[in-house]
Amino acid sequence: MSDFVKVSVSDGIQTLKIDRTDKKNALTQEMYAVLADSLLAAEDNPDIRVTIITGTADSFTSGNDLMDFLQNATQEEEKPVERFLKALVSIRKPLIGAVNGIAVGVGTTMLLHCDLVYASEDAVFSLPFVNLALVPEAASSLLLPKIMGHQRASELLLLGDKFNAEKAHAYGIVNEVVPAGQLETVALNTAKALAAKAPEALRLSKALLKNDSESVMKHMYAELEIFSTRLTSAEAREAMQAFMEKRAPDFKKFN
Ligand code: COA
Repeated sequence: MSDFVKVSVSDGIQTLKIDRTDKKNALTQEMYAVLADSLLAAEDNPDIRVTIITGTADSFTSGNDLMDFLQNATQEEEKPVERFLKALVSIRKPLIGAVNGIAVGVGTTMLLHCDLVYASEDAVFSLPFVNLALVPEAASSLLLPKIMGHQRASELLLLGDKFNAEKAHAYGIVNEVVPAGQLETVALNTAKALAAKAPEALRLSKALLKNDSESVMKHMYAELEIFSTRLTSAEAREAMQAFMEKRAPDFKKFN
């Protein structure tokens, strides 16, 4: 259990609030476990018809905890992060992303699995996998080109620069950009609208929309295998150390 993910259920809506503000809501394995368990438990809970995932203050999430990357790089068994990613691909009930601030790494890639995504005007997205000497995850190297085309996906994944909510909307990651003060209400109203619909019709329609889940899952595992190897690479260690030491990484010595 983690205190850093607040789970609440009301009127058929489950809200998962990532809440580890001092680390910009960076996700640890314990936090992934709560997210995965909550998404999966909702599948069998008739009191939950839709889930909202959101963050706090200025952060949706700064992505995977970088210390956790360093410490858990070599574990063999299925990690909570993997369970979370699998749940994102497999859940049948609708998932709404409400992005209030920084959305780094998995903070952006998880949105590709949401059914509807709302972002506040000041949300900032980034996919810095290559900057960390890693590779894309959560099937983002399949889903991003599919959503926006190869060149735009390459821009986001190879350069890894930050981009704003307007660009996220233009590139098709976000349904609507709303003023910061209205994000919660917009997400909640949408969730209420979904929660009032015929639940099986909704689940079947989502399944029809996501009829390529099998290939998405397959691609996600192909990425994960390379990602795991990259985590123990000298390049990635240099990138993570550089972040901890608050300096720029030096990749000149690698070829
Ligand atoms: N893992 C671990 N700690 C993180 C973190 C992460 N992903 N993101 C932020 N933090 C920590 C910082 O180390 C800092 O801790 P400290 O106060 O003990 O020094 C604290 O959160 C605040 O972060 P800071 O960098 O001071 O805030 P900022 O507003 O200047 O920048 C970010 C915010 C998210 C842009 C920046 O922290 C960042 O780039 N984080 C790394 C994101 C990342 O690479 N994630 C993995 C993607 S695969």
